[in-house]
Amino acid sequence: MKALVLAGGKGTRLKPLTHTGAKQLVPVANRPILFYVMENLSKAEIREVGVIVAPETKDEIISALESGNTWNISFTFIEQAEPKGLAHAVLTAKEFLGDSPFVMYLGDNLIGQDITSVCSEFPGSDSDSVIFLKEVEHPEQFGVARLADDGHILELVEKPKNPPSNLALVGIYFFKPSIFDAIARIKPSGRGELEITDAIQELINMDHKVTSQKVGGWWLDTGKKDDLLAANMTVLDTCCEYQIRGHIDDKSTLEGRVDLGEGSKIINSKIRGPVVIGTGTTIKDTFIGPYSSIGDNAVIEKTVLQHSVILDGCTIKDIDRLEETLCGRRVTIRRHDDNYRSYKLLLGDDSSIEL
Ligand code: TTP
Repeated sequence: MKALVLAGGKGTRLKPLTHTGAKQLVPVANRPILFYVMENLSKAEIREVGVIVAPETKDEIISALESGNTWNISFTFIEQAEPKGLAHAVLTAKEFLGDSPFVMYLGDNLIGQDITSVCSEFPGSDSDSVIFLKEVEHPEQFGVARLADDGHILELVEKPKNPPSNLALVGIYFFKPSIFDAIARIKPSGRGELEITDAIQELINMDHKVTSQKVGGWWLDTGKKDDLLAANMTVLDTCCEYQIRGHIDDKSTLEGRVDLGEGSKIINSKIRGPVVIGTGTTIKDTFIGPYSSIGDNAVIEKTVLQHSVILDGCTIKDIDRLEETLCGRRVTIRRHDDNYRSYKLLLGDDSSIEL
């Protein structure tokens, strides 16, 4: 069994962050999203992984995966010249995939469930595809499945105006080489992409067996700011552990699960977990509230901050209240006058604002 991880695409919905970096490397609880994907594949004992990369972001993806490779995975990087759709990405990887069954995993999707049992059963099964489904509140934003009473899939539709169910397709799909015949029969959709939903529908039309499994735990698609903050919250809730490697002065208090990295300092501040703080960061005269992830070498002073993701090298000073905020690397935020305000921000790398 091989895996194909999709880490190309445009990342339009996470601009401006994606002007300067790959969305799959944006950290959740201070680890790149893509690392959770590799961890899950490694747990399922998948050792050969093809990674679809875009020309603009391939260098940083290759360097992050090669330097972070603690997963015993052998990577093959496959460049997709343009993001022409998920099914187009599969076609681009045809040579790598050969005649192997494979799991295709979207590089910006996180699930709170391991995929080991499907990975071991799928190659020997009579299914040509297994898809994962999850009940969602807004099915019109996803690929949606219509199931028969016995649970087999009757129809799949991409972002339907009138959804036939609330079961969305999760970004993890299992295929056999028959998917290439199905892709050969589909045409680009209205948005000009070769859609994987259309290809799976084509498998069904060709009388191939497509089965589904409902995802029991959480599923998060991190393509937008609020989704990314929700992912950060869920992962901190599940994985954050109390671990102190930095320094806390005697005027500071910590509550709950706080993970403080080496060389970081907490001075006259209160931290209420779950919170993760990277290395070399200074927090002074500040309150950090739950569900915050702060990267390396940041400085936060005289500020109240919660439910936010702050990347490496940011400076935040004198801000009354910052929440639901996602800051790219090296962002500076400082207050200009004494008026109290609450701010909600989405900031790209190297932004600098005075409030
Ligand atoms: P999407 O989130 O559907 O697309 P996108 O990354 O272009 O983002 P946006 O809609 O905000 O512009 O893609 C899901 C995953 O698949 C993501 O990790 C990017 C990747 N991808 C490719 O590798 N090739 C492609 O052609 C497309 C469309 C996506």
